[in-house]
Amino acid sequence: MSKLALVTGAKGGIGSAITKQLVENGYRVIATFVPGNEDCAKEWFDAEGYTEAQVRTLAMDVTNAESCRELLGRMMQEEGTFDVLVNNAGITRDSVFKKMNSEQWSAVIDTNLNSLFNVTQPLFAAMCEKGGGRVINISSVNGIKGQFGQANYSAAKAGMIGFTKALAFEGARSGTTVNAIAPGYTATPMVEKIKPEVLDAIKAEIPMKRLATPEEIAGAVVYLASDVGGYVTGETLSLNGGLYMQ
Ligand code: CAA
Repeated sequence: MSKLALVTGAKGGIGSAITKQLVENGYRVIATFVPGNEDCAKEWFDAEGYTEAQVRTLAMDVTNAESCRELLGRMMQEEGTFDVLVNNAGITRDSVFKKMNSEQWSAVIDTNLNSLFNVTQPLFAAMCEKGGGRVINISSVNGIKGQFGQANYSAAKAGMIGFTKALAFEGARSGTTVNAIAPGYTATPMVEKIKPEVLDAIKAEIPMKRLATPEEIAGAVVYLASDVGGYVTGETLSLNGGLYMQ
């Protein structure tokens, strides 16, 4: 029987590549998207050529604890216990801090950090009970090194790393691993939003002089999800083309 994975923000740049590689590796994926984007989700599902046995799309607002608990409870009843959870949903609201307003701050903290509670909490106990689960949190190089114009995003992405380490202790005895991936600048719509001159300056700082591909990030997810990734926990795996070496 296929292993069951939940991927949040599954039709975004990195989420889409993660979903595809998990499917290619035999997982059944529950793919979440923002409620209201049903048509777009259907288009994505059709364009990728998925079957209903491979992928099930789910409208779920990761910022809403109550609806996550309700929807994920229903998913577990219908689908069983999740083997893999990829907390991938994320947004940017870049602004110099002096001009940042509380909506920009809260939207990023709610979507990128509070979502970890909302989505992981309803699933984690059952994953530990089953044993061998995998929680993979998509953080960012900018949560490690900080970034001009991203006080909100860097705070949330750094928080994801602290969450990862703390939860790794709680999963360890059951063989449930909790890890983070810290992608560098990746060729996705999120990065395409950066002003071209700013992005050029960022690229010039990357030793590899190029963006990551979403597939390169997804490959690390597949590794951490795999059986042979079972001794890695509490770790943050950097994939940043040398932009920041710890
Ligand atoms: N360090 C120091 N100073 C900087 C700077 C930097 N990195 N970048 C800009 N400045 C300076 C500018 O030179 C400018 O100075 P002057 O006023 O003296 O000319 C001042 O700060 C304001 O800069 P901008 O003109 O760029 O200000 P803005 O308000 O138009 O734009 C911004 C602000 C939206 C934050 C823009 O600078 C920006 O987009 N920066 C990049 C942010 C970024 O890297 N986002 C990543 C998004 S992708 C992602 O997050 C995925 C991931 O995980 C990696």
